[in-house]
Amino acid sequence: MRLLSSFVLVAMLGLVASTPAPQGESTGNPACSIWLDVRDDMQSGLFNGAKCENGVHKALRLAFHDSIGFSQSLTASGQFGGGGSDGSIIEHSAIELTFGPNGHLEGIVEPLRALAIKHGVSFADIIQFAAAVGVANCRGAPRLEFMAGRSNSSQVSPPRLVPGPGNSVDQILSRMADAGFSADETVDLLASHSIAAQEGLNSAVAGSPFDSTPDVFDTQFYVETLLKGILNTGPTTGFAEKLSPLPGEFRMQSDFAIARDPRTACRWQALTNDPVLMSQAFRAAMVRLSTLGNDRSTLQDCSDVIPIPNSNPSPPTLPGGKTEADIEASCPDTPFPVLPIAPGVAPPIPPVAV
Ligand code: HEM
Ligand SMILES: *[C@@H]1O[C@H](CO)[C@@H](O)[C@H](O)[C@H]1NC(C)=O
Repeated sequence: MRLLSSFVLVAMLGLVASTPAPQGESTGNPACSIWLDVRDDMQSGLFNGAKCENGVHKALRLAFHDSIGFSQSLTASGQFGGGGSDGSIIEHSAIELTFGPNGHLEGIVEPLRALAIKHGVSFADIIQFAAAVGVANCRGAPRLEFMAGRSNSSQVSPPRLVPGPGNSVDQILSRMADAGFSADETVDLLASHSIAAQEGLNSAVAGSPFDSTPDVFDTQFYVETLLKGILNTGPTTGFAEKLSPLPGEFRMQSDFAIARDPRTACRWQALTNDPVLMSQAFRAAMVRLSTLGNDRSTLQDCSDVIPIPNSNPSPPTLPGGKTEADIEASCPDTPFPVLPIAPGVAPPIPPVAV
């Protein structure tokens, strides 16, 4: 019955997709039409035929690292606080890519620089556009907003504004608050780690993902980070690495700690079995992140150029071989939700190609 109705839904989406407007074959705003070309170029080249893989993961991470260069406290103290979503990570890559937490981003910065120059769009816009188009390639993802018209000129971001995996929960929450994000919104934004892997923290296991489904925008990241850690994914322990619950999966210290901290654990747990909340909350937080430092009234809404993501029919599960006893439930208010257990024993999680 479930299978049948998701089949009907997929068939209906297929019908909708064959009419022109919704998949964004045209745009309601003529000022946005340039983005149709940029999108098609990006999908066929950078994203390898509209896949949800390493190029997309990097594009989303880059969008965060550009935008989070924004500090209300620096500005209040009379210093330059950063321009937020200003493209500085491309324009001033020679400096910003030397910041510790910006490791392994050159592989996305250079292709995006070239695409922006080729199509005559700003560095700031292309970064947020690549994140929105890229995320749409991942099953289960929200269709993100895309606003166009950010300035092409920026100053170098002040250092130490990008959070790192070795930071404490205090440090991360205060850094995020300084950029305007609550503890809940910080947890919501970490939905991004559902389509993500590491390269720089433990290079012996480059490509090891943060959940079992790095090509699907699903709640497994929130579920699996709460499982008891039992093994090292690589031959040695990497930087800011914690024990992982599943062979092949990588767990960073900050995700481990945010999942269990009293300020964030209840939001984290609420997202373990609520894909709709995960998707809507991530979209809402990305609306703010992607326009930090910009005056929205000067931007054009080009969201209809963003593809409509496929839905994800798979419900949240405990990985096969695990039980509720393996969950380190950390929200004092509510018991951990009962989740179905996937059949069999979860096989080792293969690395993402990087
Ligand atoms: C708030 C604290 C955060 C910390 C400490 C953090 C840290 C990290 C680290 C260390 C990596 C691995 C990088 C590598 O070795 O290649 C990573 C990957 C990633 N992060 Fe975060 N992150 C945070 C928040 C976010 C946010 C808010 C987003 C997006 C909205 C994001 C998106 C990603 C993505 C998509 C990847 C995967 C990149 C890839 O697979 O190449 N992160 N993050
Ligand atoms: C943006 O600035 C760069 C130099 O940093 C320049 O090469 C590029 O052509 C500019 N793009 C636009 C659209 O003005």
